[in-house]
Amino acid sequence: MSANSPAAVVVLAAGGGTRMKSNRLPKVLHEVCGRSLVGHAVAAAEELTPEQLVVVIGHMREKVAEHLVAHHPGARAVVQAEQNGTGHAVRTALETLAADGIELDGTVIVTTGDAPLLTGGTLRALADAHAGQGNGVTVLTAVVPEPFGYGRILRDEADGAVAAIVEEKDASDAQRAIDEINSGVFAFDAKLLVGALAEVTTDNAQGEEYLTDTLEILRRAGHRVGAVVAADYRDILGINDRVQLAHARRLLNDRLLERAMRAGVTVVDPATTWFDVQVSYEPDAVVLPNTQLQGATHLGEGSEVGPNSTLKDTRIGAGARVSNTTADGAEVGELATAGPYAYLRPGARLARKAKVGTYVEVKNSELGEGAKVPHLSYIGDATIGEGTNVGAASVTVNYDGVNKHRTVIGAHCRTGSDNMFIAPVTIGDGAYTAAGSVITNDVPAGGLGVGRAQQRNIAGWVERKRPGTTSAQAAAAASEPAAEVPAEG
Ligand code: UD1
Ligand code: CA
Repeated sequence: MSANSPAAVVVLAAGGGTRMKSNRLPKVLHEVCGRSLVGHAVAAAEELTPEQLVVVIGHMREKVAEHLVAHHPGARAVVQAEQNGTGHAVRTALETLAADGIELDGTVIVTTGDAPLLTGGTLRALADAHAGQGNGVTVLTAVVPEPFGYGRILRDEADGAVAAIVEEKDASDAQRAIDEINSGVFAFDAKLLVGALAEVTTDNAQGEEYLTDTLEILRRAGHRVGAVVAADYRDILGINDRVQLAHARRLLNDRLLERAMRAGVTVVDPATTWFDVQVSYEPDAVVLPNTQLQGATHLGEGSEVGPNSTLKDTRIGAGARVSNTTADGAEVGELATAGPYAYLRPGARLARKAKVGTYVEVKNSELGEGAKVPHLSYIGDATIGEGTNVGAASVTVNYDGVNKHRTVIGAHCRTGSDNMFIAPVTIGDGAYTAAGSVITNDVPAGGLGVGRAQQRNIAGWVERKRPGTTSAQAAAAASEPAAEVPAEG
């Protein structure tokens, strides 16, 4: 905790979010760039290292509480059983802390659970202005092109200070014309906040306790009411419906891509490239069009991913190339290649210069340095040694219907095309297997495993059994003596 950490950040996330039209998810659990809306709020709050980080939950609260425990264990959930307004939500949070013997002293930041573009930096600027100006309350405002629906900032004509906030539903026509709006984010002096909340009434169009009323209350009591105007109004955009959700995702994605490009990543087509917030990279990585990097995916120096690839929680080594690939929980080593059309599932680990080619699925398997599975294969629960080549159309038959078994293929092996490795089975170093083999027994190092029926030919079968077909005609023509060719003179 730094010296100027706030006493608390309170994230308001209890509202219904009816305009999302969801039967399954509360608004704040909808996701933008790999993080829930409330997760973005908590992540921004965490940057301030507050002594208390409280999230007020209400609507579908079991789901939100579970999500916080799983992903943001540093946040403490407080239940607002009925959503009687933003003032009531903050009062509930402070009363719950007080009941637990936590008396706040210093700054309380109140923020909203539905504004994913809001950064820790913006919260920090608000907290700094609040402390620097000695305000009782400081509101984060923005000048927006479309103020409809937001609370409007009323400023004193004489000194320009914020006098009050009036909600859309309570505003006069003249007030509705104001384009400076309340972001819903504030810095308060803790003690003044408690006192002001006690004075908030429900005497308004929505019959709710408005947090916004505290500004007028504090100003009338002679306290300084400050405002910080957001440099870019898009930073404070709140999400109420899925159109705004998509818009915010696009804006945050643009921000993430710009950061990557400034750090030396080439993004060929930002319009079709999507990054999650946790994606990391090194210089000279190249991202080709229509590529989504999700979770904690990492791009090594000079690697190239895409086009048409979706990589989740996957590490791409320096100089590796991955094209038209779906990967989840995979590791692609330095100078290794995957695709086009590879599917790398959890635990797929490709060492340096390994290759997984076209229409190949790999799960929970290691490929050693320079090992290759170039075509049309399934490799599951296998270890493949360095320098080994697995022939086209091979399958590690890992599942007996109940349990999974391992296939171990040694170093520098050459396995034939169309092999079935019936696990558990081990192929020794330097061994070969014949094409078309069903390998049920171990093959010793340096041996050749052959596991296939002998071929026999039945001469004349087609002309006898399929007379009159084009095949029979072709066969007949092939068996006629060659037409006489005039000798060259
Ligand atoms: C609120 C502000 C408005 C501001 C806007 C910014 C008030 C009265 N109005 O309006 O000035 O411009 O946000 O987006 O504060 N919430 C609770 N408990 C409740 C009610 C709301 O936790 O009882 C939470 C919601 O989940 C949401 C936030 O508070 O995260 C804002 O609530 P919402 O209903 O969206 O308020 P707005 O009408 O948008
Ligand atoms: Ca809102």
